Amino acid sequence: MQRKILKVNGIARSFIVDPEKSLAETLREQLLLTGCKVGCGQGQCGACSVILNGKLTRSCVLKMKAVQDNAEVMTIEGLGTADNLHPLQVAWMATGGAQCGFCTTGFIMSAKALLDTNNKPTRDDVREWFQAHRNACRCTGYKPLVDAVMDAAKVLRGEMKKEDLLAKPAKDGSILGTTYHRPSALAKVTGTWDFGADVGLQMPPDTLRLALVQAEVSHANIRKIDTTEAEKMPGVYQVVTHKDVKGKNAITGLITFPTNKGDGWDRPILCKDKVFQFGDAIAIVAADTEEHAKAAAAKVKVDLEVLPAYMSAPAAMAPDAIEIHPGTPNVYYEQGIVKGEDTKPLMEKAAFTVEDEFYCSRQPHLTIEPDCGSAYFDDEGRLTIHSKSIGINLHHAMICPGLGIDPAKLRIIQNPTGGTFGYKFSPTMEALLGVACMATGKPVSMKYSMYQHITYTGKRSPGFVKLKYGADKNGKIIAMESDWTIDHGPYSEFGDLLTVRQAQFIGAGYGIPNIRGKGRTVCTNHAWGSAFRAYGSPQSFLASEILMDELAEKMGIDPFELRYRNIYREGDTTPNGCKPDVYCLVQMFDKLRPLYEEAKKRCKSMSTAEVKRGVGLSVGIYGCGLDGPDGAETAVELAKDGVIAYDTWQDHGQGADLGTLTFVHESLKPLGLKPGQVKLYMNDTANCPNSGPSGGSRSNVMIGNALKVACDMLLNAMRKPNGSYRTYDEMVAEKIPLKYNGKWAASACTACDSVTGQGNPFPVYMYELFMPEVEVEVKTGKAKVVKFTTIADLGTIVNKATVDGQIYGGLAQGIGLALSEDFEDLKKHTSLMGCGLPYTKDIPDDIQIIYNVTPRPLGPYGAAGVGEAPLTAPHPAVLNAIYNACGARVTRVPARPEVVLAAMKKK
Ligand code: FES
Ligand code: FES
Repeated sequence: MQRKILKVNGIARSFIVDPEKSLAETLREQLLLTGCKVGCGQGQCGACSVILNGKLTRSCVLKMKAVQDNAEVMTIEGLGTADNLHPLQVAWMATGGAQCGFCTTGFIMSAKALLDTNNKPTRDDVREWFQAHRNACRCTGYKPLVDAVMDAAKVLRGEMKKEDLLAKPAKDGSILGTTYHRPSALAKVTGTWDFGADVGLQMPPDTLRLALVQAEVSHANIRKIDTTEAEKMPGVYQVVTHKDVKGKNAITGLITFPTNKGDGWDRPILCKDKVFQFGDAIAIVAADTEEHAKAAAAKVKVDLEVLPAYMSAPAAMAPDAIEIHPGTPNVYYEQGIVKGEDTKPLMEKAAFTVEDEFYCSRQPHLTIEPDCGSAYFDDEGRLTIHSKSIGINLHHAMICPGLGIDPAKLRIIQNPTGGTFGYKFSPTMEALLGVACMATGKPVSMKYSMYQHITYTGKRSPGFVKLKYGADKNGKIIAMESDWTIDHGPYSEFGDLLTVRQAQFIGAGYGIPNIRGKGRTVCTNHAWGSAFRAYGSPQSFLASEILMDELAEKMGIDPFELRYRNIYREGDTTPNGCKPDVYCLVQMFDKLRPLYEEAKKRCKSMSTAEVKRGVGLSVGIYGCGLDGPDGAETAVELAKDGVIAYDTWQDHGQGADLGTLTFVHESLKPLGLKPGQVKLYMNDTANCPNSGPSGGSRSNVMIGNALKVACDMLLNAMRKPNGSYRTYDEMVAEKIPLKYNGKWAASACTACDSVTGQGNPFPVYMYELFMPEVEVEVKTGKAKVVKFTTIADLGTIVNKATVDGQIYGGLAQGIGLALSEDFEDLKKHTSLMGCGLPYTKDIPDDIQIIYNVTPRPLGPYGAAGVGEAPLTAPHPAVLNAIYNACGARVTRVPARPEVVLAAMKKK
């Protein structure tokens, strides 16, 4: 131990520190300055950035022994306070730069260090700076962050006032359609938005810290688990194994498709007989400190009989492959699509046919916040689990029988969450926390390292798609034949639904009258498949949007023109045989046409012998909702000084707080409330109505409609015969109930049939056109997206900054999917950088978003959703642009330089 004196935020503090601990750990754990976040812990994300002796420093990789005595440290807590914010903090709120907010404080400190040295940076200076200092954001696509720095710099130079940065309500008091900031923005920019690891630090002193004993192989039988040595290690309270689990010791995949050959009970909480994938949890060590828990976990001995590991769908489908879950075939679900006439004779008489094979990768989510959570028994004796869950009621149902607890005695609360992009649609550590808390009877807390987070949370399921189009002489597609295989990892949860998604989205956007196809879900030993933004559609559109370009080439027409001839027009139906909610694609293409012509000219003129530039196109579509009659419940309560809104619109950065506020504020407009008078009570299974999970861009539509219903009910109760409204006191005096539950359901929707794929699964759809411009270095094959134009039709825009932010972030993830991201190699793909996370300079600053606004008949105030739309199909557009640039046809992602180079050589 060493005594250190540091001047922290201007005040001298003395500490006794462990010289081997990092500055970040010391600031967080000893001073509770939790505005300094730890994401990667490896110097790769900048979330922990502070200013040390005037220099920007990633505090997670600086050991205390290297910090000089009397050093000056500035953290976000020293930058500005809620009533006296630094211009950077205001600018971050105003641009929507704090989405999940996990990277926010690190970015703001980084920008502060930049502006201290250069108060008139160019946009390129800002981008260079963030790149050089490895500030990473997974939510925003970086553009809003550069905007924020430029705005703050203007304020610092005295060219504008910080008060003018924040949007005000419109003249009629409405915030709908404005860029009004999120309610959580203030806490996010001041570092007081407590994420799960911060909540962990606030737990009582007797809280046990947990560490997992995890499998280091991908498939094995367990012969014996020996905890004897671990139990004797310092600080250990208990080593928990499957023997301590009171219930079924499994997380149910809630199988609802009757033709699924599995029963959904395939995912153990703690492995007993078998290991199904790398990282599977075998035991939990509960100890007084995290270090003690980890040291003891390393002493648990697990005797394994290693089995052949099937790391991809073709391997698991091989005739000699053993059943990964004995008794259930590795191919456990099949989905068909049968629309219109038999395609065989149509293909034979088609003027043009084209076919190809495509592979969409196991994209990692790469949130900057690793998974974390805590559990305890609350004062009503309920096992209470805090986690990053984006489906608290769903997860309640999925883990309750496995834990063996009365459902009324299990409560789940969502922590402020540093991004999930869908991986938290699956339970991750909830059941482990529950088991440990039940076994020890003590409060418990756990956080994954970035390595654990990446290797042991769900991933996008790879998709293998074979596709064939047949077109008449005018280029009208008359038939489509498809075959697809989904590698869903070892656990079945939502695997069947993902396979259905291919039937819904392969070829979506085009009025193809005749379709035949078949797909299957395959159990493998690679990472389990979880939800990922745009769930199921990136696999689909990679195939159908690249094949459109191949067909156009075969016909000798422009890919824009081919698409234009085939897009949905009145009378066309989706691949599922239902009418789309609106026909807006023609208008969108008409808007894009002149920009496309300009882009073609620009690419031609800017191409050189060394660097070729090309433009690509694609169409992306996604439904808002879970299949069939999805719905939500919410509540609104009149309070003395305003209203309280209750829902489980779980926020993972998409702006659930602002969504709830906006719908309630707009729906109660007759009451003339200020936005600050709408209080939010969200995301606690004990006190909020079940609004369903936050995924599939369902929330804006389902919850927005349900909030409208609740508000209408309240207004009806408050309305007097003369049309004016009762006050709170009058309501109380007249004993009129103050709280109203609003429900809404997409009652006309039907799930898709498993044989034909026909149905009417979604009440509302989102539409987006993608047009990236890409430069390819001929020598290396390195592709870079240098400009991105997109046209989106999302119905009414509820909040422009938020919707813009979702699109920027989604496009950035699409560029990552296209060019760099993967989780395949268990040795290499284990860090943010190793997995190919895009940094600032990997994403163009030149992104143009154009909205085509077609109000949706079933959307609240005409709105659809947004989250999934921008990640549906940006990647095939990037690959099409690569082809346009250099003639390299790539049909799999990521299109890393060696892949592009090989395709160039093949040409
Ligand atoms: S760089 Fe320090 S937490 Fe990532
Ligand atoms: S806002 Fe940057 S990681 Fe979420």
